[in-house]
Amino acid sequence: MTDTAMATARETATPSRLNPPRVRLPKLVQGFLFAFFRGKAMRYWIKRHGHIFEINVAFFGRSVVVSEPALVRSVCTASAEQLINVQPNLSNWFGPGSVFGLDGGRHRDRRRLLAPAFHGQSLKSYETVIEDETRRESANWPEGKEFRILEPMSRITLNVILRIMFGADGTELKELREMVPAYMKLGQLLAFAPAPPAWIRRHSPWAKLDEFRRTFDRIVCTLIERTESDPNLVERNDILAYLVRSGHDKGTGISRADICDELSTLVGAGHETTASALAWTFERIRRHPDVLAELSNEVDEGGGEFRRATIFESLRVRTVIDVIGRQPNSPNFELDQWSIPDHRTVLVRIADLHENPEIYPHPERFDPYRFRGTRPAAPEWLAFGGGARRCIGSDFAIAEMDIVLRTLLQSFRLHTDAAAGEKSHFRGIAHIPKLGGRVILHHRK
Ligand code: HEM
Repeated sequence: MTDTAMATARETATPSRLNPPRVRLPKLVQGFLFAFFRGKAMRYWIKRHGHIFEINVAFFGRSVVVSEPALVRSVCTASAEQLINVQPNLSNWFGPGSVFGLDGGRHRDRRRLLAPAFHGQSLKSYETVIEDETRRESANWPEGKEFRILEPMSRITLNVILRIMFGADGTELKELREMVPAYMKLGQLLAFAPAPPAWIRRHSPWAKLDEFRRTFDRIVCTLIERTESDPNLVERNDILAYLVRSGHDKGTGISRADICDELSTLVGAGHETTASALAWTFERIRRHPDVLAELSNEVDEGGGEFRRATIFESLRVRTVIDVIGRQPNSPNFELDQWSIPDHRTVLVRIADLHENPEIYPHPERFDPYRFRGTRPAAPEWLAFGGGARRCIGSDFAIAEMDIVLRTLLQSFRLHTDAAAGEKSHFRGIAHIPKLGGRVILHHRK
């Protein structure tokens, strides 16, 4: 901590512990910087105050921002009873039955219900669908002409989720494919904004969001009814089937409304994030011919270790979700030597943790060799968050990225050059490459 920061901290210190230093700017200015220049503002505040400080911004209010590994570890290892989910959170958008809206025992039960669909055997059984969607989407890509890879990646990840998680097919798959992208785009924008009262809502963008949601629920209800009467329900391994089957075990069942909220959650949390991470991976590889050469050799030899390392490094150097939040559930929550004053939110800035030169020498470099033969984990690597609320789809997302990348490397040669790196653009939840991850591809002979 700098001298100024130490002095500020002492001003508010309790006898045994320090309160985090505060950023002393008008709330409106802080909010503006947090919304539009977050990366630059955070770097400046870290330089001035160190890796823990307090900001005051719209939506989250007074918030303590941390990005130092020991503090991040303390946040991740705090019990679900000590730190509950931040308010507001994505259940604003997905509904109160979403895992994002649950805490404590209900949150644990829901995760237990969803977990089997994201691990081991289930992941293996998804491989063919992911390969199939990748080949279908890439069949008509322009040869030798530059194009944005983000939207094709979004279509792949959306179709994969709809088929794998919803078990969707035929008319419902077609309808969902058409309506979900616009629903997701608007939802991301409004996710954290406070909902207006009903009389304004009818004449605001929320009315459109409500309309999308009614259509989504209608389609999902048809899928639920079909799943309930499916004679092969026991053998199915899509998430909808898991959720419907759970209703058969007395006491652990999930209501239809909650199934709709949860499916909306999975498509909302899982498709743009993975598509953005894939677009960033291509954006980085394009500028690193050495990495591409190694990836291509490896794919020809049937390996995958370096590809995995490339995915981990891409998720580090271009963090898709830059911040996660928690709410202390009791007054005067203590975070190592710091006392977190009442009614504060705790925000972990993943992007700053990933840019820390003490953890990652030359953090700005895209260097997959850092992760070769290792599996990065919290608190140093936090692309999927940590602790009781760590991303439930992380293994699925990595497996999907791996299969998409492998399938495309087998079929295409990516043009590499020294084009300037794309800037990051914030879409409301995910950070995407501003130009959509522009690529030039040639078929491999
Ligand atoms: C590269 C892709 C992805 C990234 C970068 C990502 C990142 C994250 C992050 C940072 C969190 C917050 C964790 C925390 O608060 O500690 C999260 C939560 C979550 N993610 Fe992901 N995610 C990805 C893909 C997916 C996929 C594919 C799914 C499901 C299909 C998914 C479903 C969820 C859910 C349900 C939560 C809430 C967990 C809870 O509150 O218990 N995510 N994700």
